[in-house]
Amino acid sequence: MLNELDLDQINLCMEPPGEEPARQYYFMAKCREWVKDFEKKNGRPPSAFIQTFGCQMNAKDSEKLTGILEAAGYRTADSEEADFVLYNTCTVRDNANQRVYGRLGVLNGLKRKNPSMKIALCGCMMQETAAIEKIKTSYRFVDLIFGTHNIYKFAELLYAALEDHGMIIDIWENTDQIVEKLPAKRKFPFKSGVNIMFGCNNFCSYCIVPYVRGRERSRSPKDIIREAEALAADGVVEIMLLGQNVNSYGKNLDEPMSFAGLLKEIEKIEGIKRIRFMTSHPKDLSDELIEVMKHSKKICRHLHLPLQSGSTKILTAMNRKYTKEQYLALAEKIRKEIPDISITTDIIVGFPGETPEDVDHTIDVVKQVEYDNAFTFIYSKRTGTPAAAMENQVPEDVVKEGFDRLLDTVQKTAKKRAAMLQGKTMEALVEEKNEQDPTLMTGRLSNNILVHFKGDDTLLGKLVTVRLEECHGFYYIGTMVEGKN
Ligand code: 5AD
Ligand code: SF4
Repeated sequence: MLNELDLDQINLCMEPPGEEPARQYYFMAKCREWVKDFEKKNGRPPSAFIQTFGCQMNAKDSEKLTGILEAAGYRTADSEEADFVLYNTCTVRDNANQRVYGRLGVLNGLKRKNPSMKIALCGCMMQETAAIEKIKTSYRFVDLIFGTHNIYKFAELLYAALEDHGMIIDIWENTDQIVEKLPAKRKFPFKSGVNIMFGCNNFCSYCIVPYVRGRERSRSPKDIIREAEALAADGVVEIMLLGQNVNSYGKNLDEPMSFAGLLKEIEKIEGIKRIRFMTSHPKDLSDELIEVMKHSKKICRHLHLPLQSGSTKILTAMNRKYTKEQYLALAEKIRKEIPDISITTDIIVGFPGETPEDVDHTIDVVKQVEYDNAFTFIYSKRTGTPAAAMENQVPEDVVKEGFDRLLDTVQKTAKKRAAMLQGKTMEALVEEKNEQDPTLMTGRLSNNILVHFKGDDTLLGKLVTVRLEECHGFYYIGTMVEGKN
């Protein structure tokens, strides 16, 4: 997407351009001058380390940030002992914030040893006023802070941080701007996330995301397809379409397009062999989407369909806009239409006012839907959300009891579902070498289950056929039957 020549051709004697992304390429070139200077003085290029907290959106953002750092000439480091350290933060639950504060303490020690080190923070947690105030008073050694809305300005902000001394804070309340055509460095050569929309309009009463990621904005189908085509041309075989609520994709476009319509367009791209997406809100999941998934050769047999609670009373208080019965009917319809699909979910335990009977309803839904996997979370109070102001917060011991009961059920259904694949032969995308046993490779099935099997690095990024032999609860040990592509 970007080559050395492009940056070298930029005339740095001119004022920076006003329009994007030209302005950011100008600042990448400026940073590169700084990097060259650093190399002359130190006999090596500067190193950069990015730590990502949170979801796939953040992982994708970090790939964009890495792309900009590499364009500027930084080398990627694999630890915080680097010249530039960036934490891309999450704030969906308080423990994510606490982890950042804990690691900032460690960074302070490293910066004392290497005073020219630059420390930057970005992402969702930075959109919270309280976090910024705390950093301003207790973590004075941080050099640069920016948020979720101006991430595309990273090159410009980096340059300012390299030039300036003192903390730079650039946080925007909101934006309707989507800047295209900036560089990105993929973690995996053969698979990639693709943003299709940003922000969320749902305001579930426990959730901070709409406040820190702003209102829903869809990217134009043209830009999404152009990116997917470029990725395919660059060897990507699997793409994951990313949005907080992909089912409401396209509603605010000048020429509205449904998510199912977008999927049909992406299906046509040669070279893309697998399509995934994340996350679906049950209230917006259309029959059209089920139909498209059912007939698709490329859309993976996996649907992440957050339940949050199985109690209609709690769902109403959560502002989820569906009942227990509506969710169950939807799950049943999906299982009937696409029998080999795996359904996964997110569940929160301990929402204000939740009783053990409400948890019984959640457990009942888990038993009926038989989730292939479920992420269970303990409710975390997020300042500024409606739920934080609710009076009937649940005592910790009651939450713990409900959480353990739920987890037990979730594990049982997940094991049962996984065991159903025993002896089957399925296609897997080979993603990495197994960490514990280097003679094994790890592949991902269309339904998102992992399988480990004998193989070597030459299989990386390939779609292979594997016989599933030993079920270990959430993963399989298998044997490769044939390699493909
Ligand atoms: N407390 C606990 N879990 C939460 N989630 C979102 N907000 C909170 C919160 N305040 C969970 C939801 C969501 C997932 C990404 O995080 O289950 O689907
Ligand atoms: Fe949060 Fe609800 Fe939006 Fe998901 S749909 S990001 S849970 S507000």
